[in-house]
Amino acid sequence: MGLGVGLPVAVTGAGDRPNDLASVIRGRRSVRAFDAGRAVPRTVIEDAIAAAGWAPSPHGRQPWRFAVVESFSRRAALAEAMAGTWDAQLSLDGQERAIVEARLSKSRQRLHRAPILIVPCLYLSDLDVYPNADRQAAETTMAIQSLGAAIQNLLLSVYAAGLDAGWMCAPLFCPEIVRDALGLGQELIPHALLPIGYAAKDPVRRERRPVAELIVGWD
Ligand SMILES: Cc1cc2nc3c(=O)[nH]c(=O)nc-3n(C[C@H](O)[C@H](O)[C@H](O)COP(=O)(O)O)c2cc1C
Repeated sequence: MGLGVGLPVAVTGAGDRPNDLASVIRGRRSVRAFDAGRAVPRTVIEDAIAAAGWAPSPHGRQPWRFAVVESFSRRAALAEAMAGTWDAQLSLDGQERAIVEARLSKSRQRLHRAPILIVPCLYLSDLDVYPNADRQAAETTMAIQSLGAAIQNLLLSVYAAGLDAGWMCAPLFCPEIVRDALGLGQELIPHALLPIGYAAKDPVRRERRPVAELIVGWD
């Protein structure tokens, strides 16, 4: 059976997961609720970041860096710093105040309860510089594409180790705020937030489109 066919294989839980490539790819899932009391081994994080580093990148320049946020005080500070942006955006969407408050509280909880957060940052300093804007934009797009590949490697590595991760896009909407909250340099552009830990419960899985729908041409 091809990778894109059907639902993921059954996952038997931490430390007991089939870890052949197809099973890891299909077993990985976005987890949004973690067991706050279960610490994440440092080696899992180091191995996952090393796996990220093996992703393909434009000219092999590896345009990524990763901030690891572990202490509760730092996680809470980051959640607080981003809360203003969340609030403003949800309000702009025209959501009722009570719903905005509930969603803000949920987002804060996600950062409070995940034992470790990784913030993947785009790092453009080593990329080529072009005189024309369109080529420069393509260079940046390539870097962003490769950051996505690096993040996927990281997620698969965490999953294969028996843990789980989520993916939050919030930093994309307030990179300066995240940078300030974490004391990161100007050359780093926070692109995502990956809560990592042991799943508190199994998430509902989304079905995948059949391969026949994905292939739009094959002449
Ligand atoms: C670029 C990107 C941004 C995402 N942002 C969020 C997010 O802000 N919050 C969230 O709960 N999930 C987020 N996700 C996770 C997706 O919702 C999830 O991958 C999708 O529903 C498929 O589920 P799965 O990861 O369990 O296969 C994001 C995923 C990607 C690739």
